[in-house]
Formats: sequence, structure tokens, C-alpha cells
Amino acid sequence: MTERLLIAGNWKMNGSLAALAEAEAIDQAAARHAGVDVALAPPAVLIAAMAARVAHLAVGAQDCHAAAKGAHTGNHSAAMLSEAGAHFAIIGHSERRADQGETSADVAAKAAALSTAGMQAILCVGEPLEVRDAGGALEWVTAQLEASLAAVIDPQLLTIAYEPIWAIGTGRVAELADISAMHDALAEALVIRFGDLGQDVRVLYGGSVNPGNAADILALDAVGGALVGGASLTAAQFVPIIEAAAAA
Ligand code: PGA
Repeated sequence: MTERLLIAGNWKMNGSLAALAEAEAIDQAAARHAGVDVALAPPAVLIAAMAARVAHLAVGAQDCHAAAKGAHTGNHSAAMLSEAGAHFAIIGHSERRADQGETSADVAAKAAALSTAGMQAILCVGEPLEVRDAGGALEWVTAQLEASLAAVIDPQLLTIAYEPIWAIGTGRVAELADISAMHDALAEALVIRFGDLGQDVRVLYGGSVNPGNAADILALDAVGGALVGGASLTAAQFVPIIEAAAAA
């Protein structure tokens, strides 16, 4: 595991040109805490405008299409996102797996497209509540990870985000011991998949991370940072999480 933590914000379908003032304030915090990697993924239509207004954080997308171009109405290729100013794309978010019916095979194809374009992927995995309650989360999530990596992917362009579905936007956070156990299992799966290079793939935790719980989560050895939804929308909420990472 690398020592630098990554604090990534996913604005989902929120934000506006006016909200870019928040991104500027977050950018200033990123400048103050140069030992922490900071990233923001706004809606695709805001990528270029955000990229023009920040200098210390990485701007990214919330999805990308697996194809380089063609008849895919409403989608964006990795190269298009890159040209707009995106350095990474979140892929396989549980909301897209649910809303758009994305399969792990789709996610693997997207990860491969990002690798080909030289862009970073933040690839999300995480179990539904019934799997957690039945006691099968470790096996379910590692299998989902393996299926989502079943393509030619550059591990140096890869970050994983473990986001239990029941913890996203609910205020309910996983137990610290459960987060550690899952991150250890994912780290092992990454070494099986990529050999030694798998050791350097960061695994973020996501799901209701906020200024009140970030320090405890980021202190866990196997946690390489956080993927933050709701609390990334304002500097008032997101900057304390960056500060917690700087202090971890
Ligand atoms: P949340 O979302 O922080 O609002 O729970 C996390 C995510 O979906 O990435």
C-alpha cells in the first residue's frame, strides 16, 4: 500500500457553475496539504470548467464508455473526458450498476479503455445489505473485484473503492473491523491479479464518510483514502476530511 492517501469526491448529479467556488476552496486546501492526493468528479458537463479553475487537485469523470467512439448516444469516451480535463474516471459505482444495469464485464471493459487512454480508474465494488447480513461479504466482493478486472488493465492506473451499498448516502458506516477485513481481502486479491504491482494499488473506503468519522477510517492500515459523496459537495464538509488525511 502506498503511503499517500487519496481523498476523492464524487459530486454525482449535483453541482453547477456556481458550485465551482466550492471546488476552488477545496483546491486551496489541497495546496495546503500537498502530502494528500485530492480529486473531484463533477458531472461531465462541469469537468472543463472545473479543470480551468483548479490547480492542486485532480478533476475526473463519474463514468466513461468502453468504446473509443461511435454510435453511443449520451456517452463519453475516455479520450473525450481526457481532452475536457479529466485525469480519471470513477467506474462501476453501485448507482450505475443498479440504475444502468452495468455488469462487472462492462466495468472491466471500461477499466481497459481508461488504461489504453492513459487515464486513472477508480473502480468501485461493494456488497448489498442482504449479502453482508448473510455473512458472505468478503467472498462476494472479492469475486466482484475479480470479474471487474477481467480485462487488460494497467495496475499503475488503478484505484479500488470499497463501498458497501448499504452505507452509501445512508449515514450508516461499516464497522472499522469489517472495513479492515475487507480491505485486507481486496489487497490479497489485487496481488493475485497483478503480482507485486498489486501491492501499490490503493483501496479507498466509501459510504457516508464525513468529517466526524474520517480520522478513524483513514487511520486503518489497509485504507488508502476515501471516496466521498455527500460530504464532498461543500468545502466546509470536504476540507476537514482532507485535513484528517493529512494528519493520519
Ligand atoms: P456518500 O456516497 O458519501 O454520500 O455515502 C459515497 C459514494 O457513493 O461514493
